[in-house]
Amino acid sequence: MKHLLSAGDLSRDDALRILDTADELLAVARRPIKKLPTLRGRTVVNLFFEDSTRTRISFEAAAKRLSADVINFAAKGSSVSKGESLKDTAMTLQAMGADAVVIRHHASGAPYRLAHLEWTHGAVINAGDGMHEHPTQALLDAFTMRRHLGDLQGKNITIVGDILHSRVARSNALLLDTLGARVTLVAPPTLLPVGVDTWPVETSYDLDSAVEKSDVVMMLRVQRERMNASYFPSAREYSRRYGLDQARMNRMPDGAIVMHPGPMNRGMEISADVADSVRSVIVEQVTNGVAVRMAVLYLLLGGAAEEGDA
Ligand code: ASP
Ligand code: CP
Repeated sequence: MKHLLSAGDLSRDDALRILDTADELLAVARRPIKKLPTLRGRTVVNLFFEDSTRTRISFEAAAKRLSADVINFAAKGSSVSKGESLKDTAMTLQAMGADAVVIRHHASGAPYRLAHLEWTHGAVINAGDGMHEHPTQALLDAFTMRRHLGDLQGKNITIVGDILHSRVARSNALLLDTLGARVTLVAPPTLLPVGVDTWPVETSYDLDSAVEKSDVVMMLRVQRERMNASYFPSAREYSRRYGLDQARMNRMPDGAIVMHPGPMNRGMEISADVADSVRSVIVEQVTNGVAVRMAVLYLLLGGAAEEGDA
């Protein structure tokens, strides 16, 4: 595989290879000296057209821990404000020699244009495109679930909230299906996308009954920046029906975990005490994100480096 554009492109073997490699690389992250020489001489470009904290920083940390050179591009402060197109921006960075381009863009499909129209010769990694996909988030989520629950075959994963605007939900649904888990999406009808019936999931409007049989409850952020209409009566009403508070969390089975990709709206989709509770693995998701992104970079670029060196 040359690029990572969609979680749906990963076979079960591909996904397990990434997760198993990440397991080994997590051990590196725990060493006092967190660096491997694997990608020495390779260049990774982080091309961020949309805001990010976790994804941008963890790709940078991952590339540096593998000894790659990293170029960080943020649309804010760049010549994008002068009207430069994605194509010209990508080709400018290509001219500086990019072996991998990690791209986050507000337009769904932007990473595909980069990869398929060959605006870059490097590997393209989708770090979140519009409302479409965020495959490395799904991989780090699956990785985190596996560490707590073991094999995901037959496990019940409930994803709650603003599914309509969520690339995290789509990527998770695709990957978790590949890994044999059962996914239930819980959201108000207005926040479920058209065509969700073609996804490999069940849907429900009732969070109370879903939490009782969930091994994982993954809360999603209400993405106000993508909302141009009113999707629910009020924030208070949303929290009451679709928020995870202590009382709901207490009805989860023993050993079940709470996840959130971040950033969180504390008090909206998740209460502060739940976010900070012992069931919450939200901070761990961030740590695991570095190991998973190291694995993705290593598997996409490492082989090529060996061939080139031979
Ligand atoms: N950070 C995730 C994303 O970029 C989720 C979110 O923003 O709510 O898709
Ligand atoms: N989870 C996630 O993608 O976070 P950022 O938007 O901060 O990168």
